[in-house]
Amino acid sequence: MTRARTAILISGRGSNMAALVEAAKDPGFPAEIAGVFSNNPDAAGLVFAADAGIPTAALSHKFYAGKPAFEAAMNEVLDGWRPDIIALAGFMRLLSAEFCTRWAGRLINIHPSLLPLHKGLHTHEQALADGVAEHGCTVHFVTPGMDEGPVIAQARVPVLPGDTADSLATRVLVAEHRLYPDALARLARGEVVF
Ligand code: GRF
Repeated sequence: MTRARTAILISGRGSNMAALVEAAKDPGFPAEIAGVFSNNPDAAGLVFAADAGIPTAALSHKFYAGKPAFEAAMNEVLDGWRPDIIALAGFMRLLSAEFCTRWAGRLINIHPSLLPLHKGLHTHEQALADGVAEHGCTVHFVTPGMDEGPVIAQARVPVLPGDTADSLATRVLVAEHRLYPDALARLARGEVVF
Protein backbone atom coordinates (compact mmCIF):
# COMPACT_ATOMS: atom_id res chain seq x y z
CA MET A 1 0.00 0.00 0.00
CA THR A 2 1.34 3.44 -0.90
CA ARG A 3 0.51 5.80 1.91
CA ALA A 4 -0.36 9.42 1.14
CA ARG A 5 2.44 11.64 2.38
CA THR A 6 0.83 14.24 4.61
CA ALA A 7 2.28 17.49 5.91
CA ILE A 8 0.54 19.09 8.90
CA LEU A 9 0.52 22.84 9.58
CA ILE A 10 0.04 24.01 13.17
CA SER A 11 0.33 27.20 15.19
CA GLY A 12 -0.12 26.04 18.78
CA ARG A 13 -1.19 23.14 20.96
CA GLY A 14 -1.44 20.65 18.11
CA SER A 15 -3.89 18.18 19.62
CA ASN A 16 -5.47 17.50 16.20
CA MET A 17 -1.99 17.01 14.74
CA ALA A 18 -1.30 14.54 17.56
CA ALA A 19 -4.51 12.65 16.71
CA LEU A 20 -3.35 12.35 13.08
CA VAL A 21 0.12 11.23 14.16
CA GLU A 22 -1.38 8.58 16.45
CA ALA A 23 -3.70 7.30 13.71
CA ALA A 24 -0.81 7.10 11.23
CA LYS A 25 1.17 4.86 13.61
CA ASP A 26 -1.09 2.04 12.39
CA PRO A 27 0.66 0.66 9.28
CA GLY A 28 -2.79 0.04 7.81
CA PHE A 29 -3.65 3.75 7.93
CA PRO A 30 -3.58 5.08 4.35
CA ALA A 31 -1.60 8.25 5.17
CA GLU A 32 1.80 8.81 6.73
CA ILE A 33 2.94 12.05 8.35
CA ALA A 34 5.83 13.45 6.32
CA GLY A 35 6.41 16.56 8.41
CA VAL A 36 4.92 19.11 10.78
CA PHE A 37 5.37 22.81 10.03
CA SER A 38 4.58 25.77 12.25
CA ASN A 39 4.58 29.53 11.76
CA ASN A 40 5.15 29.72 15.52
CA PRO A 41 8.51 28.38 16.68
CA ASP A 42 7.10 28.06 20.23
CA ALA A 43 4.15 25.88 19.22
CA ALA A 44 3.83 23.10 21.80
CA GLY A 45 2.86 20.66 19.07
CA LEU A 46 6.34 20.82 17.54
CA VAL A 47 7.77 19.08 20.61
CA PHE A 48 5.19 16.29 20.38
CA ALA A 49 5.95 15.77 16.68
CA ALA A 50 9.72 15.76 17.16
CA ASP A 51 9.35 13.27 20.03
CA ALA A 52 7.36 11.07 17.67
CA GLY A 53 10.29 11.10 15.23
CA ILE A 54 8.57 13.30 12.65
CA PRO A 55 10.53 16.00 10.76
CA THR A 56 9.53 19.46 11.98
CA ALA A 57 10.18 22.97 10.75
CA ALA A 58 9.20 26.40 12.05
CA LEU A 59 9.42 29.73 10.26
CA SER A 60 7.93 32.74 11.97
CA HIS A 61 5.81 34.77 9.58
CA LYS A 62 6.97 37.84 11.54
CA PHE A 63 10.37 37.73 9.87
CA TYR A 64 9.02 37.97 6.32
CA ALA A 65 8.17 41.18 4.51
CA GLY A 66 4.71 39.90 3.59
CA LYS A 67 2.53 36.89 2.87
CA PRO A 68 4.10 36.08 -0.54
CA ALA A 69 7.60 35.89 0.96
CA PHE A 70 6.43 33.83 3.93
CA GLU A 71 4.47 31.41 1.75
CA ALA A 72 7.41 31.03 -0.66
CA ALA A 73 9.61 29.98 2.26
CA MET A 74 6.89 27.68 3.59
CA ASN A 75 6.45 26.10 0.13
CA GLU A 76 10.17 25.39 0.02
CA VAL A 77 9.92 23.44 3.28
CA LEU A 78 6.76 21.65 2.17
CA ASP A 79 8.22 20.74 -1.24
CA GLY A 80 11.10 19.08 0.58
CA TRP A 81 8.59 16.75 2.24
CA ARG A 82 6.88 15.92 -1.11
CA PRO A 83 3.39 15.96 0.40
CA ASP A 84 0.37 14.47 -1.35
CA ILE A 85 -1.88 16.15 1.24
CA ILE A 86 -1.50 19.19 3.48
CA ALA A 87 -3.64 19.18 6.63
CA LEU A 88 -4.14 22.42 8.56
CA ALA A 89 -4.59 21.74 12.27
CA GLY A 90 -5.02 24.96 14.20
CA PHE A 91 -2.89 26.89 11.68
CA MET A 92 -3.71 30.51 12.44
CA ARG A 93 -2.56 32.25 9.24
CA LEU A 94 -4.94 32.95 6.38
CA LEU A 95 -3.48 31.45 3.21
CA SER A 96 -3.35 33.37 -0.08
CA ALA A 97 -5.41 32.45 -3.13
CA GLU A 98 -2.13 31.50 -4.84
CA PHE A 99 -1.24 29.04 -2.08
CA CYS A 100 -4.77 27.56 -2.02
CA THR A 101 -4.74 27.18 -5.81
CA ARG A 102 -1.32 25.57 -5.87
CA TRP A 103 -2.43 22.87 -3.41
CA ALA A 104 -6.10 22.74 -4.47
CA GLY A 105 -7.78 19.42 -3.75
CA ARG A 106 -4.92 18.40 -1.47
CA LEU A 107 -5.30 21.10 1.20
CA ILE A 108 -7.70 20.41 4.07
CA ASN A 109 -8.63 22.02 7.38
CA ILE A 110 -10.57 21.20 10.53
CA HIS A 111 -12.89 23.90 11.83
CA PRO A 112 -14.72 23.76 15.18
CA SER A 113 -18.27 24.31 13.96
CA LEU A 114 -20.86 22.83 11.67
CA LEU A 115 -19.98 24.90 8.60
CA PRO A 116 -21.43 26.95 7.00
CA LEU A 117 -22.50 28.00 10.50
CA HIS A 118 -20.05 29.87 12.73
CA LYS A 119 -17.11 30.72 10.52
CA GLY A 120 -13.99 32.43 11.83
CA LEU A 121 -12.91 32.61 15.47
CA HIS A 122 -14.80 32.03 18.77
CA THR A 123 -17.08 29.43 17.22
CA HIS A 124 -18.25 28.02 20.56
CA GLU A 125 -19.28 31.47 21.77
CA GLN A 126 -21.07 31.99 18.45
CA ALA A 127 -22.94 28.68 18.82
CA LEU A 128 -24.05 29.51 22.38
CA ALA A 129 -25.15 33.01 21.36
CA ASP A 130 -27.22 31.50 18.54
CA GLY A 131 -28.89 29.04 20.92
CA VAL A 132 -28.33 26.04 18.63
CA ALA A 133 -29.18 22.57 19.96
CA GLU A 134 -26.29 20.96 18.07
CA HIS A 135 -22.75 22.05 17.40
CA GLY A 136 -19.72 20.20 16.08
CA CYS A 137 -16.80 20.25 13.70
CA THR A 138 -16.09 20.12 9.99
CA VAL A 139 -13.22 18.90 7.83
CA HIS A 140 -13.22 20.74 4.52
CA PHE A 141 -11.09 21.48 1.49
CA VAL A 142 -9.39 24.85 1.77
CA THR A 143 -10.24 27.42 -0.89
CA PRO A 144 -9.40 31.15 -0.92
CA GLY A 145 -12.60 32.12 0.94
CA MET A 146 -12.15 31.60 4.69
CA ASP A 147 -13.96 28.46 5.98
CA GLU A 148 -15.81 28.20 2.65
CA GLY A 149 -14.37 25.14 0.87
CA PRO A 150 -16.33 21.95 0.11
CA VAL A 151 -17.16 19.88 3.18
CA ILE A 152 -15.53 16.44 3.46
CA ALA A 153 -17.01 15.31 6.79
CA GLN A 154 -18.78 16.63 9.88
CA ALA A 155 -19.35 15.40 13.44
CA ARG A 156 -22.14 16.64 15.68
CA VAL A 157 -22.31 17.07 19.44
CA PRO A 158 -25.24 18.23 21.55
CA VAL A 159 -25.27 21.61 23.26
CA LEU A 160 -26.25 20.85 26.87
CA PRO A 161 -27.94 23.05 29.48
CA GLY A 162 -25.34 25.04 31.39
CA ASP A 163 -22.70 24.69 28.68
CA THR A 164 -19.99 27.32 28.60
CA ALA A 165 -17.71 28.00 25.64
CA ASP A 166 -15.07 25.91 27.44
CA SER A 167 -17.28 22.89 28.13
CA LEU A 168 -18.55 22.98 24.55
CA ALA A 169 -15.01 23.31 23.18
CA THR A 170 -13.93 20.26 25.18
CA ARG A 171 -16.84 18.19 23.81
CA VAL A 172 -16.19 19.33 20.25
CA LEU A 173 -12.45 18.63 20.55
CA VAL A 174 -13.13 14.97 21.37
CA ALA A 175 -15.19 14.79 18.18
CA GLU A 176 -12.44 16.58 16.22
CA HIS A 177 -9.87 14.00 17.24
CA ARG A 178 -12.06 11.22 15.79
CA LEU A 179 -13.23 13.09 12.72
CA TYR A 180 -9.89 14.34 11.38
CA PRO A 181 -8.17 10.94 11.09
CA ASP A 182 -11.32 9.49 9.45
CA ALA A 183 -11.53 12.33 6.94
CA LEU A 184 -7.82 12.18 6.14
CA ALA A 185 -8.08 8.43 5.58
CA ARG A 186 -10.98 8.89 3.18
CA LEU A 187 -9.09 11.50 1.18
CA ALA A 188 -5.92 9.38 1.18
CA ARG A 189 -7.90 6.40 -0.17
CA GLY A 190 -9.28 8.56 -2.96
CA GLU A 191 -12.84 8.27 -1.65
CA VAL A 192 -13.32 12.05 -1.66
CA VAL A 193 -12.89 14.26 -4.68
CA PHE A 194 -12.51 18.01 -4.78
C1 GRF B 1 -9.16 23.22 16.92
O1 GRF B 1 -10.36 23.47 17.59
C2 GRF B 1 -9.35 23.30 15.42
O2 GRF B 1 -10.60 22.88 15.01
C3 GRF B 1 -9.19 24.77 15.16
O3 GRF B 1 -8.18 25.20 16.04
C4 GRF B 1 -8.14 24.32 17.16
C5 GRF B 1 -6.74 23.80 17.22
O4 GRF B 1 -6.52 22.96 18.33
N1 GRF B 1 -8.90 25.00 13.76
P1 GRF B 1 -5.26 22.02 18.33
O5 GRF B 1 -4.03 22.91 18.11
O6 GRF B 1 -5.41 21.01 17.24
O7 GRF B 1 -5.24 21.40 19.69
